[in-house]
Amino acid sequence: MKKKNNIVIVGGGSTWSPGILKALTKHQDIFPFDKITLYDIDEKRQEVIGKFGEILFREETPDIEFIYTTDKEEAFRDVDFVFCQMRTGGYPMREKDEKIPLSMDLIGQETCGPGGFAYGMRSIRDMIELVEDVRKLSPEAWILNYTNPAAIVAHALNMVFPDDKRILNICDQPVNLLRSFGRLINRDFNEFEPTYFGLNHFGWFTHVYDKEGNDLLPEIKNYTIKNGFLPVDAEQRDQSWLDTYAMVEDMIKDFPDYLPNTYLQYYLYPEYKLSTLDPNYTRANEVMDGREKRVFEECERIAQVGTAKDSHIVHNDAHGDMIVEVAASIYGNLRKTFIVIVQNNGIVSNLPNDLMIEVAASLGANGPQPYAVGEIGTFYKGLIEGQYAYEKLTCEAYLEKSYTKALQALTLNRTIGDAKKARNILDALIEANVDYWPELK
Ligand code: NAD
Ligand code: G6P
Ligand code: MN
Repeated sequence: MKKKNNIVIVGGGSTWSPGILKALTKHQDIFPFDKITLYDIDEKRQEVIGKFGEILFREETPDIEFIYTTDKEEAFRDVDFVFCQMRTGGYPMREKDEKIPLSMDLIGQETCGPGGFAYGMRSIRDMIELVEDVRKLSPEAWILNYTNPAAIVAHALNMVFPDDKRILNICDQPVNLLRSFGRLINRDFNEFEPTYFGLNHFGWFTHVYDKEGNDLLPEIKNYTIKNGFLPVDAEQRDQSWLDTYAMVEDMIKDFPDYLPNTYLQYYLYPEYKLSTLDPNYTRANEVMDGREKRVFEECERIAQVGTAKDSHIVHNDAHGDMIVEVAASIYGNLRKTFIVIVQNNGIVSNLPNDLMIEVAASLGANGPQPYAVGEIGTFYKGLIEGQYAYEKLTCEAYLEKSYTKALQALTLNRTIGDAKKARNILDALIEANVDYWPELK
């Protein structure tokens, strides 16, 4: 019998943790575990989720050990899998990432544009520290990372730990889209075999095959052009997400080759997006008033009634399912296909080797074995190269503490595209991030 897993969830107090815990109880057949630890730097925030977890596991898997802690030694010793989803600076800093750009007529978004830059510069520091801490106590553990902006985190970790082959950066948006395609054309998304290429939050589906090898992409495209685009869990989605998914139709009409990742709208239509964003009430406010409240109030309610049996705490199954299924595929050498972030190394033959590409890969005990893409067209190559240069310069700005590289990065970002605007926003973000960024010289 193969050894069961010992898992730690970093960012235990995340709004996504209950969903991951539930997914773990659901997938024990493919991913058995005997110990789970939540780890966070915020003891009080994590305790609320921890109390929910205690009840959930007592009811669903009484044999496993479940603890929550803020002690790194206790959290990272002898673990097999680290699931990571931290947010350096929390929602208050996300709110600044979104509002400061908007006050200068620039896109304010969690992972795209100047907001994503600011968040990236914060995440890199804590993610490097996390990998160092884990490796001291669990040199062989798989680190599966959701922490955003995943594109920048992936590139920075690859620069700092080039020989560490057990760090895998993932994003649930491709799978959210696949689930949505299934809803639109009334097919089971589990049967889809996608091909995809791009950077994180900056990519395209080139085919969506079914089990018999039929390419469903034309059908999905035609359906969207006729009827618009609704996400899989539309009934539970906030208005801003419905607006986001609605833009898929515009993108397909303008660029009909492929099916785009929703985040491309910020780069393709920055002026339009800017006109729709409210500078006084951004997505961070919507999340603080919505998901964060709901998750924490529900955990508190469960702790009071003492049972999680009738709870609807999970707001999006895709997120928890993906990380557990990714872990299961590595653990059990299942070689299932996932869209993940890996070093390019020729996968797209006309892009740089060191680029961290998001692509379909077979995932087994040996890690991701990506499927070759070959050459991509000029439009996609041009867009990706600009964004890649921005991401790389962001990481270099952090590691070299370089103001000039930060300015170059922001000037290159398509949502800014002007050096004077880039300097103004950079100076404002430096001031807002004094507690988090290195001093740029
Ligand atoms: P959240 O603020 O609710 O949760 C983050 C938690 O991380 C908090 O409890 C916080 O105290 C903790 N934390 C902060 N710094 C830490 C550190 N250095 N070590 C350990 N814990 C730390 O945020 P959320 O909205 O639940 O999102 C969590 C993260 O997951 C974010 O980075 C978010 O962008 C990311 N995310 C990524 C994807 C993806 O597709 N890759 C999908 C969803 C969420
Ligand atoms: C998608 C993206 C994530 C993002 C998440 C939540 O799943 O892939 O990268 O963090 O949405 O965004 P929200 O605005 O709801 O916090
Ligand atoms: Mn993502």
